[in-house]
Amino acid sequence: MSRFLSAKYANLTPYTPGEQPRDAQYVKLNTNESPFPPSPRVVAAAEREARRLNLYSDPECTELKLAAAKLYAVEPQNVLPVNGSDEILYFAFLAYGDAQNPFAFADISYGFYPVYAQFCEVPSREIPLTSDFAVDHRDYLGIAEHVLIANPNAPTGTCLPLWQIEEIVKSNPDRMVIIDEAYVNFGGESCVPLIKKYDNLLVIQTFSKSRSFAGARLGFGIGNEALMRDLNTVKYSINPYNVNRMTQAAGVAAIEDDAYYRANAKTIMAVREETAGQLRELGFTVLPSCANFLFAKSGSISGEDLYRKLKSRGVLVRHFTKERIKDFCRITIGTQEQMQILLSNIQAILNAKGC
Ligand SMILES: Cc1ncc(COP(=O)(O)O)c(C=O)c1O
Repeated sequence: MSRFLSAKYANLTPYTPGEQPRDAQYVKLNTNESPFPPSPRVVAAAEREARRLNLYSDPECTELKLAAAKLYAVEPQNVLPVNGSDEILYFAFLAYGDAQNPFAFADISYGFYPVYAQFCEVPSREIPLTSDFAVDHRDYLGIAEHVLIANPNAPTGTCLPLWQIEEIVKSNPDRMVIIDEAYVNFGGESCVPLIKKYDNLLVIQTFSKSRSFAGARLGFGIGNEALMRDLNTVKYSINPYNVNRMTQAAGVAAIEDDAYYRANAKTIMAVREETAGQLRELGFTVLPSCANFLFAKSGSISGEDLYRKLKSRGVLVRHFTKERIKDFCRITIGTQEQMQILLSNIQAILNAKGC
């Protein structure tokens, strides 16, 4: 660090993104991207818009908001487009967190939550997942903090039904309940319809996973109009042009081509179930998943060893060093061919160990 860095950042532990290697061709199953390219209509829309990159983007994202409102069956004033859903998480910590307004989230969840809490100087409490790595919704009823839950959760993949989310929202009327639905299109139940009933619910969605947009950076905050005004105030105080022209145009095209993405999500869910079965046959414990990844541990090889051996064979998965989950690897669901490569490499690694 330089001698100029503000003292308030001296002890900051930043988020560690998954590896994005440039040195080799990997079967890349480590950052929950879609294995499918964006739809041809999306590519065409982005190309068209690229010709107007000399002009600032629409800070209100007017067309995109209209399209997203239709997609989510809400009004345009209930939607705030953002530069990836990470950005709306950041806005929410800034808007709603401070020393008197702490956040609570699971001990095993998206790694950015504690980073934003620390960065925004918001106290936080980590609520342990159950012994089988599930969120117990009863732990979040009538609590003293704002609630932040990834549903489905990451990196575990388990999900809560809508009625449990509603209980949490209902039981915390004077607290924000933020539900991060990054993976909801792979079998979860969205709580977006509840925003019409509850003024304390903020739903977060992203196009990164189910809509093949990880590199385009597009997410949404969805909630009641007053919440959107709060978050808009934060946005206009940081970066009014937060969603670039190409992404706005591509986002509208993606929404118009929703059938393409629904079909891809269906394929991914089918491949997920097949892969889970095959991993179990190889002796793995695999958590039930409502997401585009599996969280799995072998009885014969440690999580770290498996990650390293797979990497040396050109297959990237994600391993976390946190004590509670260090035996697991998180495996993104790719194409059927990619999963066969993964499985045959796992089989070879286990054979070499004499398992
Ligand atoms: C639970 C969860 N929320 C949010 C995000 C952020 O996604 P993005 O900023 O690409 O929209 C991720 C990314 O992996 C995630 O796992």
